[in-house]
Amino acid sequence: MDYRFTPEAEALKPSAIREILKLSFAPGVIPFSAGNPAPEAFPAEAVAGITAQILEKTPIAALQYSVTEGFEPLREELLVRAKAKALANERDRILITAGAQQVMSLASAALAGRGDTILCENPSFVGAINAFKLTGARVVGVDMEEDGLNLNKLEDALRREENVKLLYVIPNFQNPTGITTSEEKRRALYRLARQYDFLIIEDDPYGELYFQGAPPCPIKSLDTDGRVIYAGSFSKVLSPGLRVGWCIADEALIAKFTALKQTQDVHTNIMAQMIAHRFLTAYPFEEHLTFLRKLYARKAALCLGEAERHLAPEITFTRPAGGLFAWCALPEGYDDFPLRALREKQVAVVPGGAFRVQPAEPERCFRINFSTPTDEQIVRGMERLGELKRVMARGR
Ligand SMILES: Cc1ncc(COP(=O)(O)O)c(C=O)c1O
Repeated sequence: MDYRFTPEAEALKPSAIREILKLSFAPGVIPFSAGNPAPEAFPAEAVAGITAQILEKTPIAALQYSVTEGFEPLREELLVRAKAKALANERDRILITAGAQQVMSLASAALAGRGDTILCENPSFVGAINAFKLTGARVVGVDMEEDGLNLNKLEDALRREENVKLLYVIPNFQNPTGITTSEEKRRALYRLARQYDFLIIEDDPYGELYFQGAPPCPIKSLDTDGRVIYAGSFSKVLSPGLRVGWCIADEALIAKFTALKQTQDVHTNIMAQMIAHRFLTAYPFEEHLTFLRKLYARKAALCLGEAERHLAPEITFTRPAGGLFAWCALPEGYDDFPLRALREKQVAVVPGGAFRVQPAEPERCFRINFSTPTDEQIVRGMERLGELKRVMARGR
């Protein structure tokens, strides 16, 4: 059968990350390539207890169809918490989604199409880039600096590109770079959104995972005219497999996203929403967050300390203040380092090209994740990357 896909579906290729992920879990491979929470981060016992209680006390509600907007008690709880952080104003509403990923799908499907432009950070989260490309809109990456988007390049893009409808940013501990956008730049982004009349998607799955202080004010907290669509998620603080996220935005946007969501999956898995709600309200959620922050701060310090020993100074890397990732830059002549790391050293890192809107040639960056490997794997993995670096230096 000769299948004719739409041009947008035709252009969608399996993500390089997924392909590398398959190899990363091969026996013996050290996985710096995943984006998964650490195995020890899962409150599995608590979830088992909660699940049993839900099935005992409210089995039908947990197994029946539910409403598209989401489980009401969870929506209320999340909204109270959001208001306490100035993340929601009086006009804002909340929609529970199938992870934060669905927020990107819904927002872009509702607000951008052929002839429009969506701007994003370069590099950025590939799941969002692919969702945006599916709308038929032109997706344009804008380079980043140590403190977020390069504002000159952003303004160039805003002047150059036609019909810019959306800007997608991950201001806290960005995936893949680990970069945090400064408060000054957050304010500038919002100012530019007003000046050039576009909306901002603020994707924040890592914001709670800070190592020392909380990150600067969310862009959503600056929003006085309904321009910011905030995406939250339980994936990195409870479980990605539950697939529960949320969107906070102006009521008119949430109404449209809700209608769209109805056509996609009717509603987010109700059992999973109930589990998330109970975990948030009946368990010491703050303690759990404190535990995660300490866990990832420790793993990041170990990983970056070992990187300093084995990769520096030739290979440079970001020093994230939270989240799960650091971004490494290779010197000239080391372009096949990630591939050789996998083949010769059994160490999986993700080549930077996987996070680009348009692949850059040559690609000299790669992403490392410090939450998935064990401490021992981190030490051994960095040692092996250091060996490869020395071998490649001799061969130049
Ligand atoms: C920046 C970013 N946004 C969204 C997601 C998807 O999150 P969810 O599991 O909530 O769909 C990820 C997952 O890695 C991510 O890194």
